[in-house]
Amino acid sequence: MTYNLDQKTIIVTGANSGIGKAAAAQLVKCGATVVMACRSAERGAQALEEVRKSANSEKVELMLVDMALQASVRQFVEQFKQRHDRLDVLIHNAANFDHGLKKSTLTADGVEMVFATNHVNIFLMTHLLLGLLKKSAPSRIITVASKGLITYPFLDIEFDNLNGERKFNTQHAYYHSKLAQVMFTYDLAERLKGSGVTVNCLRVTNVAIPDERMTHLPSWQRKIYNLKRGMSITPERQAETYVYLAGDPGVEDVTGGYWDENNQQVRSNRNSYNRETWKRLWDESERLAGIPKGSFLTL
Ligand SMILES: NC(=O)c1ccc[n+]([C@@H]2O[C@H](COP(=O)([O-])OP(=O)(O)OC[C@H]3O[C@@H](n4cnc5c(N)ncnc54)[C@H](OP(=O)(O)O)[C@@H]3O)[C@@H](O)[C@H]2O)c1
Repeated sequence: MTYNLDQKTIIVTGANSGIGKAAAAQLVKCGATVVMACRSAERGAQALEEVRKSANSEKVELMLVDMALQASVRQFVEQFKQRHDRLDVLIHNAANFDHGLKKSTLTADGVEMVFATNHVNIFLMTHLLLGLLKKSAPSRIITVASKGLITYPFLDIEFDNLNGERKFNTQHAYYHSKLAQVMFTYDLAERLKGSGVTVNCLRVTNVAIPDERMTHLPSWQRKIYNLKRGMSITPERQAETYVYLAGDPGVEDVTGGYWDENNQQVRSNRNSYNRETWKRLWDESERLAGIPKGSFLTL
């Protein structure tokens, strides 16, 4: 599967490992200019080198962002706009699923860490880049959820628990934040109809996590991941759907979709289609992201 993305500029967050790194390499091979948005200068530089080598191209650069912090997201966007005058595809791949978090931990912005990284600051980054995406239209926003949401069929947005104040464990917080991403995708897709900017959400299946990403985990958890590995697909295989949604001409006008690893549209959790929840989540996300009420679409 290859496309001519010569004229396209693409941001991939969390591109220093796993699926994000594999997607960055495949997109560069298609000719795109790719910005790898990573939080660690060291891990980012190493991944940049690997992507350059594997794609045999210099059309890739590293920019630093910590998706847990609103100030960092704002600074990243400022720097990106200074260096680039267009943005064709924004891929929100980075996510926190840190099993080391034993209780709700607030970021410097006062938002629970997992919800901040996996939803609120993605909402903020989208807002800050929307003007450029509109200017570059037809353009695409891709969000990333998880097939594991299937195991939470009754999950809904917990407006009394956005900061984990009522209950917290990483797994619950992670799926809650991913459900928020699905709803944000559907809502934003509707709000952007006619703008030339599409929004689609990709449902990542069970993808092998490399050994070096598991060193901080207790041995029982590493064993579970190792067992799961037998049933996993590779990051490279899953990244093909990122590339499909970023580059396939057949999906240029398709918006508000939820996609599996075979590039097929699938249904998401029942509660994710509730428009009243979309609206309430949107208002809460604006508040938590420090965006003046009702001004998300105005940039
Ligand atoms: N692997 C699976 O089975 C699976 C299943 C369902 C969904 N997913 C989703 O697939 C996407 C990619 O995951 P993966 O499997 O490729 O895992 P991964 O290799 O651990 O990649 C996650 C990336 O997110 C980055 N990240 C985490 N917190 C960040 C922050 N605050 N600021 C900037 N970057 C941050 C990590 O950077 P650091 O190196 O700095 O930590 C890393 O580059 C995620 O959205 C994940 O939720 C994965």
